[in-house]
This record gives sequence, C-alpha cells and structure tokens, in this order.
Amino acid sequence: MNAASHEAVAILDFGSQYSQLIARRVRELRVYCELFPWDTPWPVIARLQPKGIILSGGPASVYEEGAPFIQPEILASGLPLLGICYGMQALAHQLGGRVVPGQTREYGQAILERCAETPLFAGLPPEFPVWMSHGDRIEALPPGFQPLARTANSPFAAMGDGQRIFGLQFHPEVVHTPRGKEILANFLTLICGCRGDWTPSNFIAESVQQIRDQVGEGKVVCALSGGVDSAVAASLVHWAVGDRLTCIFVDHGLLRKNERQQVEAAFRENVRLTLRTVDAREQFLSALAGVTDPEEKRRIIGREFVRVFEAEARTIGGVRFLAQGTLYPDVIESATPERKAAAKIKTHHNVGGLPADLGLELVEPLRFLFKDEVREVGLLLGLPEEIVFRHPFPGPGLAVRIIGEVTPERLAAAREADAIFEQEIRRAGLYRQLAQSFVVITPVRTVGVMGDYRTYGYVAALRAVTSDDFMTADWARLPEEVLARTSSRIVNEVPLLTRVVYDITSKPPGTIEWE
Ligand code: XMP
Repeated sequence: MNAASHEAVAILDFGSQYSQLIARRVRELRVYCELFPWDTPWPVIARLQPKGIILSGGPASVYEEGAPFIQPEILASGLPLLGICYGMQALAHQLGGRVVPGQTREYGQAILERCAETPLFAGLPPEFPVWMSHGDRIEALPPGFQPLARTANSPFAAMGDGQRIFGLQFHPEVVHTPRGKEILANFLTLICGCRGDWTPSNFIAESVQQIRDQVGEGKVVCALSGGVDSAVAASLVHWAVGDRLTCIFVDHGLLRKNERQQVEAAFRENVRLTLRTVDAREQFLSALAGVTDPEEKRRIIGREFVRVFEAEARTIGGVRFLAQGTLYPDVIESATPERKAAAKIKTHHNVGGLPADLGLELVEPLRFLFKDEVREVGLLLGLPEEIVFRHPFPGPGLAVRIIGEVTPERLAAAREADAIFEQEIRRAGLYRQLAQSFVVITPVRTVGVMGDYRTYGYVAALRAVTSDDFMTADWARLPEEVLARTSSRIVNEVPLLTRVVYDITSKPPGTIEWE
C-alpha cells in the first residue's frame, strides 16, 4: 500500500527473533510501520517518509566480522532513533562509545532503575521490571549521551542524547517487560510526534483504489479456503472490481464439518460475489489413498489443488490476476534467506499459494497487515463473525490432522470429533481466547470397555493453543470440565474413537499441527 499518506515509522531488522513483535506493538499503538532488513538501501526506506526509526535487536556482536551496522544515511537523517538491544549497541559503537564482550550473558527479568528524567519513560515509576537478553555490554556511552536507567548488571540499560536518539538494552516489545508498550508509545508520540490514528479502515479506501489501478479492466480469480485471510482478500477485491472477480472454492473433502455450506452461504448470499465450488473430493481422496508420509501428503494435496484450480481458471477464460490473502508475517518471513530458512519446518501448502508458472499476476491486498488487522477489515467489510473469527485452518485441511493414512472413515471421525470439541469450547466461551483448537486422529488403537463390551478403537488427541503470532504457542490450560465433556462426548458419539488424550506440548519444541 502507499503508506506515505499516513504517519509511519520504519523498523530496521538486525535479526532478532522479536523484530516482528516490535512491528506488531507499533501497529497496536495505531502507527503504521514497516519492517526492513538492516541493509535495505536508504531510498527504499525513505519512501515510507518515516517520522522515526526503530533499530531492532539481533544475535550478532558489533565486533564480529561482517556484523550488521547502521547505515550512515540513517544516522545523518535527523530522524528520532530508538535502538533496542543490538540496535543500542550499534548506536553506541558507531557514535563513539565502547561496547565490550560481556563475561556472562544477561538473560531474563531484571529491575530497571531510572536515573534521569526523559520523555521516553514519561508516566512510568522509578523502578520497573524489564526483559534482558544480551551478551555484549556498553562500557562507555558515546559523547553527548547520558545514562537514563540501570539494572544490577548493566550500568547503561538505557541511554539518550537528550534530543532524538535513544537506546534500550532491554526488550520493550515482549510481554515480560510489562510497561514496555508505554515506552514504545512515548517514543512514537512524544519523540516522533505521531498522532497514533492509523486504523485498518484508512486502509480499505486506499487499498480499493490500488486494486483498481493494478487490475484496470482485467479479470481476477481468488481461491477461497474458508479461512479469514482469503475471505477478506476476496471481499476487498470484490469491493474494488465487482463481478470481474470470480472466487473458486475447492472442496477437497478435507474440510471441517459444514465448512462448505458456511462458505457458500457467506459469499453467495452475504457478499454476493461470483463463487464456483468444485467438488473434487473423489480426486483428492483417491490420490491420498495409501499415503502415510506427512510431506508426501502435503505434496499430493498441493499438486491436486493446482490441477483443479488451473482447470477452473481456464474455464473462466481471459484471467490475468490472482488475488491472494498473503499476510505481513509471511512477507516478513520470506524477506531474507536466513528468515526463510529458519521459518521452514514444514512445507506449508497455502490454499491460494499457487505456483508462479500459472502466469497470473498477484494481487495481495493484505500484504502489509497483521492477522488482527485483517479481522478488523473483515468486520468492516461486513463478513460474518463466524468467518472473521474462525480459527486458522491449514491448506491441507484434516489430512494433516489424521496421522497416517487418510481414509473416508477416519475423515468422518475427525470431522465429528472436531465439531464436538469446537462446540464445547464455544459453549464455555473460550473460542476467541484460543488461537487454535482441534482434534488429531492418531493411528494408535487401544483397548477400552463400553457397557459390557470390549472396544478397540483409535486414540484422539485434543490440541488447543494460545499464541500471538503462531511462531510460538503455549498449550491452553483448558478447564477440566471442558476436557471432561469433550472426552465423554467424543467417545460416546464417534464410534471409531475410544480414547481421548490432551496434548500438553508448547511450540517450540512441538509444532501446532501434528504433521
Ligand atoms: P505449525 O504446525 O507449523 O503451524 O506450528 C503454524 C500455523 O500454520 C498453520 N499451518 C498451515 N497453514 N498450510 C497452511 O495454510 C499448511 O500447510 C499449514 N501447516 C500448518 C497451522 O495451522 C498454524 O496455524
């Protein structure tokens, strides 16, 4: 999007695992921001017309060969700068201070003691807890800087030049620094002079205009998956180009219970866009018969999906554009080779993530938004809540929630059990607090007893997680009654399943899905 008409800040990414989190926090404070790799040429960053620049943390040491550095144009820009962790060390090093290797790594919570007045800490108490994670430490501040705060191990836990350049040795963006968001807010409003009035609704009008400019009189297709991202992308494109958009919904037989009916109702009756549903259940199931390897399943589903989609697009004829619900975190993840490598643990098959050789030009209206912002846009566009707040669902669908071979019986069991778990979670009012919840059908069979009979059925595993960004997740501490009711209903109502367990693995080391 053309963000230049909003006030914006730039975040330079020096490789920290928390860089994306800084961007999220800034957006939560209603300031538009974009994350750039640290070595992005200055003219590219300047196009955003930033009112300030945040320098992220990172794993390097300023003395290492090839260590990332702050480009001279940034230091010369006259803009407010906030260096966090490595960002602070790079500032100190490049502006004439001294950074030395620490004897021990400081990791974990520490108490910050303020030692000078600064707008950065306006409204904060004299002492408060912060989260530290650094090896090197600053031994001497650059000329013109003064210490703003210290901890037991870091005499220079915060520094400032009294005007526009600040450094924090700790991480204000993580939840373990409970007052961190206020510090970021102070930087944005008091130091950069931002109003903090950016909202996703500003985004809609601009985005509609941009789609019109890009597409002209052309035809667009979009693959709907039932998930919120493709739904919002499709609605936005429909808003912009009306009937020149055709949506394709592939029923691969791996959908959740009633999902096809819900999508059809929402889009045919509510949004009233042109929707073609393809019933490809047979095709996918026969291609998956006998396959047990998770990566092989994903590959097959991806391949069949492209086949079906291509055939449909050909039938429509004259299509030049493909609309996709790519979100900002995906854009960030693929921005640099290192991030791409780090992020790829599974081959994600995104419905709509179609190969480049389809020869269609991409329209990605959500590529600068985070998930919660996409939900806001979805509501503003009039999408029903059950689509806007539905838990994310992987492109390969129930196939990756059935460990081992996907058979019609096990699919039916997965669908029923999943619906029961969802009902119980909704009944307890917990659905929106969870990032995802679902049932996994394991290939393990165990002995049980029902009435006077011995049973020998499969083990179902319940998975429920909380997560901000799906990169890390914690297993949800669900109330016992919810687990008890779900377990008893699954065993009673789904004959194939005779035992229920609850997955108490966080991510890492586990992933959210089992395959
Ligand atoms: P994992 O299992 O890697 O999942 O912790 C992180 C998030 O990604 C979703 N996921 C997928 N989404 N295609 C998708 O569109 C996929 O192949 C896929 N695999 C996992 C998962 O549901 C979670 O939200």
